[in-house]
Amino acid sequence: MFSAITTDLDRCRQLLKSGEVVAIPTETVYGLAANCMDDTAVEKIFKTKGRPTFNPLIVHIHSVEQLQVLTKNVPEKAKLLARKFWPGPLTLILPKNEKVSDLVTAGKPTVGIRMPNHKLTLELLAGLDFPVAAPSANPFTRVSPTSAQNVNQYFGDAVTVLDGGPCIIGLESTIVGFEDDLPVIYRKGGVAIEEIEACVGNVKLYIREENTPVAPGMLGKHYSPKTPLLLSQNIEKSLSEFKNKKIGILSYYRDDYSGSLVTKVLSQSKNLKEAAHNLYQYLHQLDAMNLDIIIAEELPEVGLGRSINDRLQRAQNS
Ligand code: TXA
Ligand code: MG
Repeated sequence: MFSAITTDLDRCRQLLKSGEVVAIPTETVYGLAANCMDDTAVEKIFKTKGRPTFNPLIVHIHSVEQLQVLTKNVPEKAKLLARKFWPGPLTLILPKNEKVSDLVTAGKPTVGIRMPNHKLTLELLAGLDFPVAAPSANPFTRVSPTSAQNVNQYFGDAVTVLDGGPCIIGLESTIVGFEDDLPVIYRKGGVAIEEIEACVGNVKLYIREENTPVAPGMLGKHYSPKTPLLLSQNIEKSLSEFKNKKIGILSYYRDDYSGSLVTKVLSQSKNLKEAAHNLYQYLHQLDAMNLDIIIAEELPEVGLGRSINDRLQRAQNS
């Protein structure tokens, strides 16, 4: 019987070869993949996701050698970062060569590239003679999917999903570009900024100017549940402000707040990796509960806590 969720690598490979879109597992979030060398296939990604074409896509590769197919003049620090963090939750923004289409890069002279750390997807990619472009497999602005079921709930049988289980990291990749030799963080993500600095020294944090997003993952509203979300530094105070409302709490480590219908605890042991892993699953679950509001607790601004706070801030801007 046909099922949109599958573990059949050959079937997924055939679909990709014939220019179709397939959702693929990665360690960060599921991606909506298509042949990056085929504009008609790439167009299907934008259409399926409802994503504006000014927002460029990340290309996924399975070996460092594939960089040559896509880029030119790779900065030394980019090579260091690739060696240290690939396969893994790091995207590098690099000067593209003429083979990469303007549709993938939204007309930019650079292309975002990463090597995902997921066995099934690396195997899938190794059997293709082209890399795939893949944004997160959610409709534009919605919460990213971290399971095959999440993807299926968004797109139904219209999109075949390669089921690689729940995403281990659960938060999108950290995006690093370069201004001459200076690494610039365009999006906080699965690799902590502190780890990037330990590898290549000082970095610059990209600050978005209004209405000119370089990485539209930086667009204000993004990663949003349908339910209104408030990012709070003081859960008790926020609870008192929403009396008589159906409240869901997304707490860092405490489970003893009273006055809400439900509390989801990101990590009882205050482990930021565990918190990142649980973040989107809990947002999906809370969003399905018909709550009036989700009150999310701000995490410590260190390591992956910074990446999680970034997503919660954007989820709040709806
Ligand atoms: O972990 C991830 O990065 C996931 C998985 C599927 O790999 N992908 C992902 O893709 O999060 P997406 O499209 O949802 O977010 C990618 C972000 C977008 O905000 C896009 O604007 C930015 O990367 N981006 C891509 N290419 C870029 C470029 N050349 N310059 C600046 N930003 C770029
Ligand atoms: Mg996304």
